[in-house]
Amino acid sequence: MRISISEACHLLNNGQVVSIPTETVYGLAATIDQPAAIDQIFSLKKRPSNNPLIIHLPSAQSVSDYALMVPEDFHALAEKFWPGPLTVVLPVDLSKVPSQVRAGLSTAAFRVPNHPLALQVLECTGPVVMPSANLSGRPSATRAQHVETDFGPHFPVVDGGHSVHGMESTIVCYIDSRWHIARLGSISAEELEDVLGYRPAVAVSAKNVAPICPGQLYRHYAPRAKLELGKNAQEHSGVVIGYEGKQYPKASQVMFLGTIDSPSSVAENLYAVLRQLDDNGIEHAYVDIDVPEDGLWATILERIQKASSK
Ligand code: TXA
Ligand code: MG
Repeated sequence: MRISISEACHLLNNGQVVSIPTETVYGLAATIDQPAAIDQIFSLKKRPSNNPLIIHLPSAQSVSDYALMVPEDFHALAEKFWPGPLTVVLPVDLSKVPSQVRAGLSTAAFRVPNHPLALQVLECTGPVVMPSANLSGRPSATRAQHVETDFGPHFPVVDGGHSVHGMESTIVCYIDSRWHIARLGSISAEELEDVLGYRPAVAVSAKNVAPICPGQLYRHYAPRAKLELGKNAQEHSGVVIGYEGKQYPKASQVMFLGTIDSPSSVAENLYAVLRQLDDNGIEHAYVDIDVPEDGLWATILERIQKASSK
């Protein structure tokens, strides 16, 4: 059910959960001071309670309301990427961030989204917690209609058109005096390097200790269709997921993600195409992964891998 910005603000301020668009993917929002609504986010999504939520702020200044300290370079990152698709994990004052939001961790994740409608909502509600607006394990929602598919036609959603990045935010955390990537996302390691002066490593969780990014433990982004990944699309008939600008056999039915020279066009469409497989009742598809591996392609390849693992 499509709702206006003022309806969304009214519902949120009265303890309801609504979906709002962001530039990365649609989110399921509750204000940070409504514990029952936050519980409802977990039950609606069927999300494990040990997977924490990102706090979305109207501006970078609000971080100091929660964070115990901000490391060196935080301001440079915020200056360059906020509002935008970067999420920063920081140690927080435990009395300021409800435990259910941080899933019991001593840190919390923060982001200032770059979407005019999301910013209008945040202006009238203050900070909201907001996971991606999909059932856990399913591809994220990049259209209002995807939210209605997962949560029903009566679920309240602000329609902001399609999400321009189409890929979740990049999450960074600070470990042993260096920034690490806890989740690949819309901002590439190369773009972070331009600001930090070094390429942040992708953080890998050690065995038997608390995971760095709990959400990375779960199966993700998966359509019902079986996805076969490979670099020999030329040899495959049937449904092939590929790229404009590349050649595929005439016998195959190609679903295009975007153009091979524009990873952002691919990121923008990936989840919509994965959802389309299910809408069309397709049971098997071959995904062409003969693509570059740097920049945003690293995120795209990681999402395709996760979508194909059962
Ligand atoms: O682009 C995005 O980030 C979207 C839009 C709606 O903003 N949100 C999003 O939320 O992707 P979600 O809940 O689907 O993914 C949040 C990820 C999870 O993997 C979670 O484990 C991680 O953020 N996370 C949250 N708090 C964390 C923390 N304190 N430390 C490490 N990871 C954290
Ligand atoms: Mg998600």
